[in-house]
Amino acid sequence: QIYRSALLRFADDGSPLYDSDGLLAVAPDAHGQQRVLAAGSWQALQAQFVGLPGAQVVHLPGKLLAPGFVDMHIHYPQTDVIGAPADGLLPWLEHYTFPHEARFHDRAYADGVAEFFIDELLRNGVTTALTFATSHPASVDAILTAAQQRGMRMIAGKVLQDRHSPDGVRDDTEQGLIDTDTLIQRWHGVDRLGYAITPRFAPTSSEAQLRGAGALAAQYPDVWVHSHASENLDEIRWVRELYPQARSYLDVYHGFGLMRERAVYAHCIWLDAADRALLRETGTAAAISPTSNLFLSSGYFDYLQADAAGFRYGLASDVGGGMSFSPFRTMQAAYVVGREQHSKQGLSLKPGQLWWQHTAGAARALGLEGVIGNLQRGCEADFVVINPACTPLLARKTQQAASLDELLFAMIVLGDDRLIEQTIVSQAK
Ligand code: GUN
Ligand code: FE
Repeated sequence: QIYRSALLRFADDGSPLYDSDGLLAVAPDAHGQQRVLAAGSWQALQAQFVGLPGAQVVHLPGKLLAPGFVDMHIHYPQTDVIGAPADGLLPWLEHYTFPHEARFHDRAYADGVAEFFIDELLRNGVTTALTFATSHPASVDAILTAAQQRGMRMIAGKVLQDRHSPDGVRDDTEQGLIDTDTLIQRWHGVDRLGYAITPRFAPTSSEAQLRGAGALAAQYPDVWVHSHASENLDEIRWVRELYPQARSYLDVYHGFGLMRERAVYAHCIWLDAADRALLRETGTAAAISPTSNLFLSSGYFDYLQADAAGFRYGLASDVGGGMSFSPFRTMQAAYVVGREQHSKQGLSLKPGQLWWQHTAGAARALGLEGVIGNLQRGCEADFVVINPACTPLLARKTQQAASLDELLFAMIVLGDDRLIEQTIVSQAK
């Protein structure tokens, strides 16, 4: 299949590459997985690809093809919790989130939410997510079955939370670990699916449970680890009481072997220099969730310090703490946060950087560089068809744009789900 359209992708150093008249060629590999065969300017590539036997050209004038978005941290069971008002993280968990998540013991209920969630991801141009399930093992079966049916790349995990959690969501220390092992064997590496060992956060797991999670993380090095860290000051005080021997919040996880490549911690707002060095040295990634941090007034991710330390990070919605499934809303909030935190130093994240953080950069942080998040040769062919003229104002602004930065910025500042005309997932069939 050959697409002719404007084309956005990223160079290895993260800078955006743009062809106003581009060509994207995709073809199945030996396993039937659609992959990018070539991407670049129509002028340069058309002689090579047009006219190949079986090649069909889909011409999309006025549209923009771009990599599918990667959401590094989301909770599918919180789809219906978006917009629940609360006085910060801990009251929000207690009054809305835990009671709602208790409903996921019912597989049929979980299936219904999983289907809606995946439709909503795709409608917003998100082709891969690293998602929390709930503490109920069937909630993982629900989301991964639904993703498998669509041929999507998706990573999920059963939540481990054996203390400080109400009846209905609290699991048993040993059983939670046994269920995790069973689910890893059932799902990890099946089709495009992956498993993440998912302790909710340090306050809701006993030391025994975190120790067991760390043992599983060592036993299965290519399985992901997924949790929350250093989001909210009340939460951090609580962690200090519960784990007085740890140097910091992240050090609790480190002490149990839970910081390594393919470990992802949501938020990472209130870090010090030693925490940032630890992230870098262990190859651990941060998932930045600015709409959630604004909604729950948790704080601002420190981009300047993160870049100085050199650890990997990417963008995430954190629905239902987050306010939107739309990557455009997340990028917009990330821009505002970047401006806000260091207004004296005037940090202005470039639109290409923001877009990279939600595509190729997020893929890299997940250890999936060259697999998803980009449209370079060999990548799995997950992409979106963007209509830059989807609203009257966007039509004007994108028409007037005099540079790639202006074009991308118009979409980041004004965009939402209406920009996504179509989401194409690389089905392995
Ligand atoms: N910390 C522990 N659980 C959660 C959750 O569900 N959402 C957010 N934002 N933070 C958490
Ligand atoms: Fe979260």
